[in-house]
Amino acid sequence: MATAAAHQTARAQADGTAGAGAPLEESARATAYEAAFDAAVAADERIEPRDWMPDAYRSTLVRQIAQHAHSEIIGMQPEANWITRAPSLRRKAILMAKVQDEAGHGLYLYSAAETLGTGRDELLDKLHSGRQKYSSIFNYPTLTWADVGAIGWLVDGAAITNQVPLCRCSYGPYARAMVRVCKEESFHQRQGYELLLALSRGTAEQHAMAQDAVDRWWWPSLMMFGPPDDESAHSAQSMAWKIKRHSNDELRQRFVDICVPQAQSLGLTLPDPEPRWNEEREHHDFGPIDWTEFREVLKGNGPCNEQRITQRKRAHDEGAWVRDAAAAYAGKHTTAGKA
Ligand SMILES: [Fe+2]
Ligand SMILES: [Fe+2]
Repeated sequence: MATAAAHQTARAQADGTAGAGAPLEESARATAYEAAFDAAVAADERIEPRDWMPDAYRSTLVRQIAQHAHSEIIGMQPEANWITRAPSLRRKAILMAKVQDEAGHGLYLYSAAETLGTGRDELLDKLHSGRQKYSSIFNYPTLTWADVGAIGWLVDGAAITNQVPLCRCSYGPYARAMVRVCKEESFHQRQGYELLLALSRGTAEQHAMAQDAVDRWWWPSLMMFGPPDDESAHSAQSMAWKIKRHSNDELRQRFVDICVPQAQSLGLTLPDPEPRWNEEREHHDFGPIDWTEFREVLKGNGPCNEQRITQRKRAHDEGAWVRDAAAAYAGKHTTAGKA
């Protein structure tokens, strides 16, 4: 941007540091800050870590970014389950790279949350104690090799649909993290599609395995967009703040419209008798989602909830020496640098 952001100028004026007039009284200054924030959001400017922001905006972002970060690292588990059993060296290398990417996504996101004043330790503690959630999709098991393909095609595909609009999110560090994440997610989605295509064109058993995986992952993928718009507690405010750009139902529809022709190209069917083109709406209609299942998994009663958290805590405990060593090294480096 060529000129200083409008909200920075307005804030400087309120502080009396813009060279025009004395600083405002405390309450007038708070009002001016808020007005500057609102104007910046309305003008599609980015809010940066040092800018004034409403407390609720900050806490909404921390909650959303934390949940996103937790999903990235918990999401490593169902797929890592297949690394040792990948059917070829090529598939193994691809899967390892993908799982590693997800760890990287977690890192960018925990760093984005840190810019809002909440450290990674605190967020991990909340994840481990069940006070913060991760995406429910990762509470389903990966039963066969084809699940790796179905996750790439559907779960990473749904993640991209959700995350591309986040590249324009009003909070700068989150938006910028999403640009890189989305590039990597599109590689994940294509590797899943290509894996399923190979199975679908393979033997009858391989085709059946691909179909079974798609049958199991389809509905949970649609649930990844969150509850229907009329039940979504945080949506309206997040849209007003331009953290979210589209509603849950809009994004879900976009995803269905992308997947229906892709399923046809794959030679696989979706486990829904209803997806058909609706001329009037210019979208595919699709069958009802079982929200009871969604709520049960969210409550902790999914097939793998307990296993995922137990494994995460164990990995965290077993990694303590790595964190200690890194901190000791960094400390030594700093001391040496100062000497
Ligand atoms: Fe990811
Ligand atoms: Fe991914």
